[in-house]
Amino acid sequence: KTRIGVGLIGFGTVGTGVAKVLFENAALIRRRVGVPVELLRIADLDITRDRGVAVPPGVLTTDVKQILADPAIDIVIELVGGYDFAKRVMLDAIAAGKHVVTANKALLALHGEEIFAAAESQHVDLGFEASVGGGIPIIRALTEGLAANRIESIYGIINGTSNYILSRMTREGHSFDAVLKEAQQAGYAEADPTFDVAGIDSAHKLAILANLAFGTPINFKEIYTEGITNITEQDIAYAREFGYTIKLLGIAKLHNGAVEARVHPTMVPSDSPIAKVEGVYNAIHLVGDAVGDVILHGRGAGSLPTGSAVVSDVIAIGRNVLKGAAGLVPPASFQQDQRRPIRLKPMD
Ligand code: HSE
Repeated sequence: KTRIGVGLIGFGTVGTGVAKVLFENAALIRRRVGVPVELLRIADLDITRDRGVAVPPGVLTTDVKQILADPAIDIVIELVGGYDFAKRVMLDAIAAGKHVVTANKALLALHGEEIFAAAESQHVDLGFEASVGGGIPIIRALTEGLAANRIESIYGIINGTSNYILSRMTREGHSFDAVLKEAQQAGYAEADPTFDVAGIDSAHKLAILANLAFGTPINFKEIYTEGITNITEQDIAYAREFGYTIKLLGIAKLHNGAVEARVHPTMVPSDSPIAKVEGVYNAIHLVGDAVGDVILHGRGAGSLPTGSAVVSDVIAIGRNVLKGAAGLVPPASFQQDQRRPIRLKPMD
């Protein structure tokens, strides 16, 4: 094999970041994979808008079949978001024997078991590094770097938009609505920003993390979820007077062998590391039985950071393709190690 062919479906904020990283870092990606990784096709409904990235002629199409049916394409990147169409695209790509990379945490939180089972039965890889924590390599940390550990707890800021809003309200006293608009303009927010501010996006991500950390599929709908929509400037000011900062946290931990998972605004001491995580940054704190505490901190949303995570999956899968084997760690290998009782409501 002399090259890895990539097809991208969805040329929005993250898709644009992916194209930029693949084009601009092509030489180093080629060295790291061993052969060129070529973005052969990009499908989107809108192929005329200028995204500030030079796409070679003939690459853009409005027809996803040109990607799914192209034998030169080894890896399909799904970045359309949403449920039905995205799911169909992923399952069709898997059925066509293509490896899939996605950032679609909502879809994985809802239909992850089915999609991973399809990938396993077709012996293809499914990369989802970009689904949690934007550019932070948290999925690889759990499935590889910390794979020797029993994870005891995992918590943190896992929605960039909410953290951006809370920090701007805290620092500059801006109103909720004005700052949400800024986050949308910066390309951090979901298509429906209610997912961000109502804590749903954090619950999607927490379900994925807790699933990997504790070896149990988690139904995100059962996670206790409260967002930041009711937080006022006064709440923030009062908390500050008492030495606290309000952060939207996703928290999952083991309690006597059962998993507790919840998302809600939390008062954290203002001098703690998590209180100092500002703007679009995420931070994830986990405790493993062997390693102890680990904190990962980085940009949790945005075009290039999320593009970085997507392309890291493309690189890992590209290496596997050259070896002739699917080789990303499948979540099932974590899910099956221990089915645990789940108590998703707070226990304290
Ligand atoms: N809307 C998400 C966030 C994007 O703000 O964190 C990254 O998943």
